[in-house]
Parts: sequence; C-alpha cells; structure tokens
Amino acid sequence: MSVPILEARGIHKRFDGRPVLNGVDLSVSKGEVVVVIGPSGCGKSTLLRCLNLLERPTEGEVLLDGRVISGPGEDANRVRQKIGMVFQRFNLFPHLTGVQNVALAPQRVLGLPTPEAEARARQLLEKVGVGARMAAHPQQMSGGEQQRVAIARALAMAPEIMLFDEPTSSLDPEWVGEVLKAMRALVDDGMTMVVVTHEMGFAREVAHRALFMDEGKVVEEGRLEEVLGAPRHERTRTFLRRILEREG
Ligand SMILES: Nc1ncnc2c1ncn2[C@@H]1O[C@H](COP(=O)(O)OP(=O)(O)OP(=O)(O)O)[C@@H](O)[C@H]1O
Ligand SMILES: [Mg+2]
Repeated sequence: MSVPILEARGIHKRFDGRPVLNGVDLSVSKGEVVVVIGPSGCGKSTLLRCLNLLERPTEGEVLLDGRVISGPGEDANRVRQKIGMVFQRFNLFPHLTGVQNVALAPQRVLGLPTPEAEARARQLLEKVGVGARMAAHPQQMSGGEQQRVAIARALAMAPEIMLFDEPTSSLDPEWVGEVLKAMRALVDDGMTMVVVTHEMGFAREVAHRALFMDEGKVVEEGRLEEVLGAPRHERTRTFLRRILEREG
C-alpha cells in the first residue's frame, strides 16, 4: 500500500502524570474509513486530539503524508488545515451565520476574498444538506443542522483527512440520520476518515477497519465484522454486548 496519509507511532499521553494513552499505533491510508470504538474514558477523544495536535503527545510521533508533524517546531495551525475535525459539540460561532461560520477560516487563514469564500461555503452547505438554512445563526438551527454546518466548516479548508469525535452523540435521535447521511456522502466521495462513534449501523456500512480501544490502548483491530463477531478480549465482548443491546 502507498504511504499512509496519517500515522501515529507509539503515542503516549499523560495528563499531570496520569497515563491516558499507553502506546497507540495507527495508520490510515488514503480513502480509508477507520471507526474507533471503546468505553467512556478509554482515550478516544484524546487520541483524535493528539492526531491533529490539539494535544501534544507526551511520547511518540504523528506523521502526515510520511512527515513527522508532532515535533516541537511544528506549526499546529498549518497541520490543522489538512486535518479537519468535527466534535461532539459543534462549537459554531454564535454571532455568525451558517455561511459566515464556514467562510471564516478560508478568509482568515487562506486569505480568500469574502465573496469567493462565501460562494464556496454555500456549495459546501448545499452538499451537507443545509443550503436552506445557511443565513440562519446557530441558535436558530436544530442540532443536526448545526452539526452539518460544523462538517462544512471543517471541509472548507479542503482537508486531506477528517476526524469525527462522536458527531451524533449529543443530538436528539431525530437529527442523527441527516448527519450520518452527510457523512456517508463524504465516504462516497472517497474522503479519508477516522470516526469515533457508537452508531454501529453506520459503522457497519462505512468502516473499512475498526479499532477497539480500552484503557489507552488499541486492544482489537480488524474488519468491523471480525471485531464484532469474534472479539478476543473479555472487555471488548462486554462492551460490545452493551452497545449492541442498546441498539436493539
Ligand atoms: N485536558 C485533560 N486534562 C486532564 N485529564 C484529561 C484531559 N482530557 C482528558 N482527560 C482524561 O483522559 C481520560 C480519557 O479521556 P477521553 O476524553 O480521551 O476519553 P473518551 O474515550 O473520549 O471518553 P468518552 O467516550 O466519554 O468521550 C479521561 O479519564 C479524562 O478525564
Ligand atoms: Mg470522547
């Protein structure tokens, strides 16, 4: 296979000496969709945050396109242009409309003129299915609309890879479907994605590979059906039984 787009080698993260990631290796190829599952507190969000340098790993390296990006001299903002991230909470700017939220970084960071940045923002908002709501402010939007604006905002920087941290878990159930639909469209476009989610139906549909994390480590890895069908660890079995039961 070609050089991975994104790679983590032996990532450790400690907060005030307390270990949260205990040696995570990960390699994501172009066009691949990797789903990460695992119990609360096992380090999923911290891993994603280390991948796009919102957190600096205590040990280990993150590589983008084969180049180490986690070194001390690296410009995290430049890295984040190439690695889009969508959070559980949307973190949109409340005083800006949908279009303005999406156009902001291309204007500020890439220096795109406003009309151009906003034209592109409108295209992206159409693409994720919120074209009709683009002039609204976040508090006038449903959770599902806000989250899709957040996805469009991440896409506006034309990232090489998108990281999703439980993008539907803070939504009312009625809004989950439309956000997953927008993500599915990205998968169909061949976007490279790392997705932390417990939406197992969605994961089954899109995941090329699944990682199961526990206590700051990847404890299972493989095709999702393999991980779901024959987990090697008791903790994985217990956890999966729980989320699959909840799914009904
Ligand atoms: N900035 C921080 N400072 C100190 N501890 C932190 C910080 N961020 C996360 N932690 C701790 O690291 C551990 C892993 O947290 P993390 O958010 O990565 O877990 P998670 O797998 O995403 O959990 P969840 O499924 O609940 O989102 C937790 O014990 C958390 O309290
Ligand atoms: Mg988390």
